[in-house]
Amino acid sequence: MSKKVHWGIIGLGKIAINFATDLQLSETAILHGVASRSQKKATIFAKKYNANKAYDSYEALANDPEIDVIYIATPHVFHYENTLLCLQKGKAVLCEKPMGINSKQVQTMIQEAKSRKLFLMEAIWTRFMPSYKKVLELLDAQTIGDIISVHADFGFLGKFDPESRLYNKDLAGGSLLDIGLYPIFLSLLVLGIPTDIKAMARMTETDVDSFCSMLFSYKNGEKAILESTIEVDTPTEAFIHGTKGSIKLHRRFHHAGTITLYKDGQETIFELPHAGIGYIHEIEEVNACILNGETESEKLPLEFSQNLIEIIDRVKSEIGLKYSAD
Ligand SMILES: NC(=O)c1ccc[n+]([C@@H]2O[C@H](COP(=O)([O-])OP(=O)(O)OC[C@H]3O[C@@H](n4cnc5c(N)ncnc54)[C@H](OP(=O)(O)O)[C@@H]3O)[C@@H](O)[C@H]2O)c1
Repeated sequence: MSKKVHWGIIGLGKIAINFATDLQLSETAILHGVASRSQKKATIFAKKYNANKAYDSYEALANDPEIDVIYIATPHVFHYENTLLCLQKGKAVLCEKPMGINSKQVQTMIQEAKSRKLFLMEAIWTRFMPSYKKVLELLDAQTIGDIISVHADFGFLGKFDPESRLYNKDLAGGSLLDIGLYPIFLSLLVLGIPTDIKAMARMTETDVDSFCSMLFSYKNGEKAILESTIEVDTPTEAFIHGTKGSIKLHRRFHHAGTITLYKDGQETIFELPHAGIGYIHEIEEVNACILNGETESEKLPLEFSQNLIEIIDRVKSEIGLKYSAD
């Protein structure tokens, strides 16, 4: 393997632009190739982000022998087939969230990576934010005592377009998979797997959830109160309440640059901005894993992604959300 990690990107949409922008900040990475369904789009993208190769098919990129790792940036519904394609061509994969539409897909993807001894990770950039490192340090030090509850919301007003990724059921639209994943991620990170899940949703005319309200309960009675919506711009903040204090992750909590510790009547503010647009931290994690020959990240192991999608599946079943792949 070359000293620098050679990246490829599949699906040149909105998130690919952010990712490619941050990739330029890395000293251990090279954007080697990009792939789109359109040659013109790939050529323009490659020129803008200094990629050596521009492909008009995802498979052609996966066949490029100089690529070490491929970032899958297509809509949710394609993550499964795109990831399997890359793994089967011997490439490591960083797959956008959610890793798959359901736990069965994610399990198959993980099995494929493990059987080939290839690196695989879900692109939950949140896990690698400096603010989350601090939150985990505060929790480990029992600064707020035992956790009693987690409150987190994620909402924005998305223009209704039945064909768009957010609303189209064939593209696994809805708030839960797109942004509800983040409050669930936080609850899983700090409280683990819930024993009981209650959830209710408002559905769109395209039969995906536009609003999902979740209440999770844990073995010692801890609670997580979580919400996602694509029809209201909500504060998008998170709170972790404990027996000795609270931590607030400021808007937008999934890439918070500020956290506040509330304890003994005092407020302590920590300013912990991320570098670049925020994707550089997950990029450096992948670079380090690949250069060290690791097949998964210790910070975001595959078991975490499996647990995450299993919780999402339980919420889907509560709200009656079913995609064709389910
Ligand atoms: N981590 C984050 O902060 C974050 C933020 C936003 C989104 N995401 C995730 O990233 C993924 C992509 O989101 P996005 O907002 O970038 O999506 P997008 O712009 O709508 O589409 C991404 C790209 O996927 C490719 N694609 C392949 N088949 C397609 C089809 N049938 N319909 C539409 N596009 C198709 C297209 O690329 P080509 O035309 O080049 O082939 C398209 O430009 C989602 O799974 C989402 O959850 C993550």
